[in-house]
Amino acid sequence: KDVPKFVNPLPIPSVINAGPGSGNQVITMTVSQFQQDLGLGLKDALGKPILTTVWGYNDQYPGPTIVATKGKPVSVKWLNRLVDANGNALPHLLPVDPTIDLAKPTSPGVPIVTHLHGGHTESASDGLPEAWYTPYGQSKGPIFKKGEQVPYYYDNSQEAATLWYHDHTLGITRLNVYAGLAGFYLLTDGIEKALQQSNWLPAQPYDIGLAIQDRMFTADGQLFYPSESEVEGTTGPSILPEFFGDIILVNGKAWPKLKVEPRQYRFRLLNGSDSRFYNLKLPEGVAMWQIASDQGLLAQPILQNELLLGPGERKEVILDFSNAALQGKTLILTNNARTPYPFGDDVDADDSPSQIMAFSVTLPLNKAYPLTFLPATFNKPLAKMPPATKTRKLILFEGEDEYGRLLPMLGTMEGGAMRSHDPITENPGMNKTEIWEIYNLTPDAHPIHLHLVSFRVLSNQKFNGTVNEETGMLSNVQLEGPLMVPEPGQAGRKDTYPVAPGQVTRLIATFDKQGLYTWHCHILSHEDHDMMRPLYVGQLPT
Ligand code: C2O
Ligand code: CU
Repeated sequence: KDVPKFVNPLPIPSVINAGPGSGNQVITMTVSQFQQDLGLGLKDALGKPILTTVWGYNDQYPGPTIVATKGKPVSVKWLNRLVDANGNALPHLLPVDPTIDLAKPTSPGVPIVTHLHGGHTESASDGLPEAWYTPYGQSKGPIFKKGEQVPYYYDNSQEAATLWYHDHTLGITRLNVYAGLAGFYLLTDGIEKALQQSNWLPAQPYDIGLAIQDRMFTADGQLFYPSESEVEGTTGPSILPEFFGDIILVNGKAWPKLKVEPRQYRFRLLNGSDSRFYNLKLPEGVAMWQIASDQGLLAQPILQNELLLGPGERKEVILDFSNAALQGKTLILTNNARTPYPFGDDVDADDSPSQIMAFSVTLPLNKAYPLTFLPATFNKPLAKMPPATKTRKLILFEGEDEYGRLLPMLGTMEGGAMRSHDPITENPGMNKTEIWEIYNLTPDAHPIHLHLVSFRVLSNQKFNGTVNEETGMLSNVQLEGPLMVPEPGQAGRKDTYPVAPGQVTRLIATFDKQGLYTWHCHILSHEDHDMMRPLYVGQLPT
């Protein structure tokens, strides 16, 4: 049975408006298990669509879109209700590998913890991997301080941007996100509102988030996550070096279609997948103007032929469907990023993940909403970064774990690769600006994400050096070839950036909130095992 393509209408997640006027409201987001039609085209004996058991927030996958405003704090209670009708804790939907570092509750139930990705958030509300808790907060991780009923606090002290929230539980992040625990958090500000009011940027309902995720399903339409160990002699479910699914979901529907009017739309693209990169293209004749990256608007729109999106990254585009030649047409958004990226297997035109979704230009123009015209510049030059007071040399390394499995790690150039639970080495001073030079010693690109900060990528450069294959220690580094500045679409405010194999990426950030955070690869199968390190800002507690 083939999953239908370009038939399912694109779902638009419901919106929770946390904007001004709504006062000091506390939003409640309840994590639970339920069934949803993911558009797989399967029918039961009575002809009803077969539903898929998923997890979500407030009974939706993806979760509701929270819309907040810069400078207006929002409080969110994240409740764990992964329980059955009798209140009994549910088991995990997917196979859990017990051999990796993971949350080990002492009472039944699946632990969760929610992180606002890209948020300039206080440490206590950051949703760190060890701040997990089981249903009703009965069992909790070592840094679960607030208690389930105390809301997380987001001060929204940052520019307008497309943020997203997702689960971050130690050792099962990939599984909890796969089951459905992700949603958009859109932050707006006065600059963006003024651009919308001048009809320079499309506003609702022409401003749409697109969360792209690859999945696999069993023959009866349930989520499938492979866990067969690749290492001989090991038994039980195992983490794998990566995951690539064959069914593409956008906002939780397989290969959806969006009917559009002949006008400009703003799309906020999010790669919410485990390991898959997307290199997105539209047919000729549709201009793709990139207007924003992870942390907000670029200084000006950039015309792009294709858009590369690593796991965790966001890019926003304006697409203009008003061209007479497009009327009545169905335009397919395609992908050709290799797996793993950039040197893995080809994604050919007949491979299912080569198509993402379709736009069909069939709706009449709704005159109730004014047309928009993208300006040549947003008159919003990027703020200058203060000079760095420290340069840190870091590595991305692939080792082997105690079972002989591939173990991707982070580390320092002099100290070598480290596991997640090793002592803190990244400890910037409070309000200090640092350059991080990240040397990728692996054959793949890794989307590196720092919590708390909005960073800028200064350069990429090829290098050679001596790598200790045991420890990952790197010496005799020779930089090769020119300093390459990031392409203009990646030169803005970022929080996740794919560091290319054989290259060193230099990024700069100011660390301006005290306490424990983390930095990690956003390939979810990597951050779970073990490509994640603590990041502590300011004086370490003694
Ligand atoms: Cu999107 Cu630490 O994660
Ligand atoms: Cu990685």
